[in-house]
Amino acid sequence: MKKSIGVREIRRLYRDGEKITAATAYDAAMARLADEAGIDMLLVGDSLGMTMLGYKTTLPVTLRQSLHHTAAVVRGSKRAMVVGDMPFLTYQVSPERALLNAGRYLQEAGAAAVKLEGGERIAETIARLVNSGIPVLGHIGILPQSVLAEGGYRIHGRSDEEAASLLLDARAVEQAGAFAVVLEGLPRKLSARITETLTIPTIGIGAGPECSGQIQVMHDLLGLFKDFVPKHCKRYADLGQAARDAFQKYRNEVREGVFPGPEQTVE
Ligand code: KIV
Repeated sequence: MKKSIGVREIRRLYRDGEKITAATAYDAAMARLADEAGIDMLLVGDSLGMTMLGYKTTLPVTLRQSLHHTAAVVRGSKRAMVVGDMPFLTYQVSPERALLNAGRYLQEAGAAAVKLEGGERIAETIARLVNSGIPVLGHIGILPQSVLAEGGYRIHGRSDEEAASLLLDARAVEQAGAFAVVLEGLPRKLSARITETLTIPTIGIGAGPECSGQIQVMHDLLGLFKDFVPKHCKRYADLGQAARDAFQKYRNEVREGVFPGPEQTVE
């Protein structure tokens, strides 16, 4: 039985004032690297739709695809807490449907928890899952599954009214029993206030340094995408360029008859 991080260890990190480190992962190979580097939490985000499957939004991602990738991340990691991100329409229809779908992340994929987008309006569903023994990571602020209804992505909580409503959302998620909550795209002051108010950890993405932890999309932090780099993202590597260079070198060597050489050839 592998000894991996669970809700208790996340709570301990929070209690001890240690920042929680999280990144998205979608396959066993990258999960292994992040896990070996000591990342605490691996979220199999529905950003899977854009990072791995070539969609423009998260909306087309299905439960089947998400479970498939979550299971791969579980297989690839030893220590990190793996969280499955429930796709659009897998938890909004009813708390009962949400429970059955969420259970599949634990039973079939081996995840340690699930993530759901939404605040007050989803609190009843969070409570249903938590009361059935499923750890839930909340998610408020920018909600990519509502991108069409919102008309795009934008920082939330700039007005007093929106800030107050986000605070209520954060409290609702906490009261429903979520073990932590992702704050996405909030002004620094507001996420600091939410972090101060709550008694569960906040995991920020584009929400400033006061959050209890940070999460980044793996492709952003590794520099796997050339075109769009969000403001909140810091590139820790340029794997995209490294991969392009390697492919080009391989292609040239094949064309020139340099590869395979004697070392790669059995006589
Ligand atoms: O799907 C995802 O990658 C996410 C993170 C941005 C938190 O939800």
